[in-house]
Parts: sequence; structure tokens; C-alpha cells
Amino acid sequence: MTVILKYTPEAIKSAAQTIKNGGIVAFPTETVYGVGASAFDPDAIIRIYEIKKRPRFDPLIVHISSLADLEELTLGIDKQCATLIEKFWPGPLTLVLNKSSNVPDIVTAGLNTIAVRMPDHKIALELVTESGVPIAAPSANMFGSLSPTAAEHVIKQLGEKVDIIIDGGKTKIGVESTILDMTGEPTILRPGGVSVEDIEKIIGKVKILTYKKRPSSPGQLPKHYAPRIPLKIIENGDSISVNTHNAGLIAFKKPPKKVNFKKVEVLSPTGDLKEAACNLFSILHRLESSGVEMIYVEKVPEVGLGVAIMDRLRKAGGLKNG
Ligand code: TXA
Ligand code: MG
Repeated sequence: MTVILKYTPEAIKSAAQTIKNGGIVAFPTETVYGVGASAFDPDAIIRIYEIKKRPRFDPLIVHISSLADLEELTLGIDKQCATLIEKFWPGPLTLVLNKSSNVPDIVTAGLNTIAVRMPDHKIALELVTESGVPIAAPSANMFGSLSPTAAEHVIKQLGEKVDIIIDGGKTKIGVESTILDMTGEPTILRPGGVSVEDIEKIIGKVKILTYKKRPSSPGQLPKHYAPRIPLKIIENGDSISVNTHNAGLIAFKKPPKKVNFKKVEVLSPTGDLKEAACNLFSILHRLESSGVEMIYVEKVPEVGLGVAIMDRLRKAGGLKNG
């Protein structure tokens, strides 16, 4: 049976006890909800892969609440990493680093690197601290499905499969963390909550691996974060000429003037990309359950968080979209 808890210090204690006992807890972070277990408990980690129907070759992100945890998990960090950590942690930046032998192979899918982040969320941080272990947690959705930005989304996909779900309301960033591989030439494996521009301000030019190239981070597999209905990226809602009365539109700033859609959602009336990112997955979840047969989405500018938004939309549509 799954227990759903609102935040209280007692709820954190009980969730932490569950983690210590080898259980599975879904919890909010500032990006999306995660479904976590002790990073040192291989049996619990295997359960996470099974619950999500996630392929075993797709490694997990480990969540920490202190720099001491980082020492336990990695072989150490260089000056560049220290600067990034100083600037962006806690926050939506995941660093891929060389892993220490303390970490079970199942967490990193056999890789000798580990993805680590310190989330900027009271519940996540308290849960890690209270559990006394780093928490390995992928996003709390079924593999390849829409990411969860509210407890309802977790309940819809994983309800009854996990031990505890902590309901912390809507997440504030709304797209997953940026994954930056620091084991060689700094390379962005997945655009996310920290923009490329902000990272480059700190460490200079970085390489960006888009999903079109070979996926070294399976979060880059095409057809990921996908709704159950077809999705197509378009220039703007007014330019559509096909029949749209069974379709939904996700407009960037304002609803179209002429074309009628069954349902129209707006990402950000002021054209704010942070607001758009924050609303993206909840809008996709709503449209998925609204009975539309097709989703059209207007392109957003590919700067700042717009890069992460377009990355998720392209994956949601599979490779068909440009
Ligand atoms: O914001 C986030 O990052 C959320 C919250 C819960 O923290 N987590 C998340 O986890 O998005 P997940 O499992 O959905 O995505 C993790 C991505 C996967 O694409 C995985 O391949 C990549 O991180 N990853 C994990 N370890 C890696 C490693 N050692 N090298 C390269 N990629 C890695
Ligand atoms: Mg995910």
C-alpha cells in the first residue's frame, strides 16, 4: 500500500525510516518529483528500475544534502567543479564525476562515473539528511512517459507501486536538471534547469550533446518524456490549416486568433521561459487526459530555459519533429 504524506517533520522521519529499511519514497525536488531509495542498497535500487520499467543500462542520479556525501560517492572534484558547485548547488545542475567504489554498480548501470546533484528543495534535502544516506532517484514516472511536476502526476503513474509519496505541491522549475559531464571536456548531456549560458559564464564554452547525436545519457533517447498521444511542433497556432477540432494546442504566449482547437493551453502569457518551463509538463499531463487526439505545440525561443523546453518537446514528439 502506498502512503501519501504532506510535509511535516514527522512525515520526513517516517519517509527516512522507510529509506533506511530499503523502501522506496517518491518526493518533490525543485525540478520534478523523484522516486528514490538508498544509493547504498542495491536491492532497493533494483526495485526502482522494475517499478519504472526502466532499462538497467540507464543510470540514476544520486541526490545529496552535503559536500561530505560527495566525497563518499566520487573520487574527488577539481577546481572547475568546485566553482560550479559553489555557484549552482543546491540547484538543478547534475554533475557527472568519477565514481568511488562505495557506489553499487546498479546505481550507475556499471559505468565508472556517477551523476550527482544537491536539490534546492527543503523536503528533498531533509529527506536525504534524515535518511543518513545519499538517495538515488530517477524522475517519478514510468520510463519514457511524461515527467511528474505535481504529486497527482506521481500518483497517476506510480500510485500503489511505491511505499510513500510525499506531496510537496507543484515543483518550481518544472524541467529536469541540466546534466553536465565533468569527467573530460565539459559536456552537457541534457539541457535543463540551469541554462547553458549561465554555465558558460562560469567555466567558459562547453560541448553540447543533443539527442540527435549518439545518446550517452539515455535521457537523450528519442521518444522520451512522451504523452500517449501524438505531438507535433509548429511555428504558431494560426498557421495550421488541417482540421483541428479534435486537437489541443499549447501556445507559447497567446491563444490563436483564427484556428479553433478543442483545447488551448498557454505556456506563459508574458513570454517568460522560466514560467513556460514550470508549466510545461502539467499542461502536457492535462492535455493527455483531456480526450484530444493530437497535440500541437508552438516553438519557443531556444535561449535560456527555452533550450530545455524544446529538447523535451522534440523528445515528446519522437524524432519526427525538427
Ligand atoms: O531533475 C532531475 O534531474 C530529476 C530529479 C528527480 O532530480 N531526475 C531525473 O532523473 O531527471 P532521470 O533518471 O529521469 O534522468 C537521469 C538522467 C538519465 O538520462 C541518465 O542516463 C543520466 O541522468 N545519467 C545518470 N548517470 C549518468 C552517468 N554516470 N553518465 C551519464 N548520464 C547519466
Ligand atoms: Mg526521467
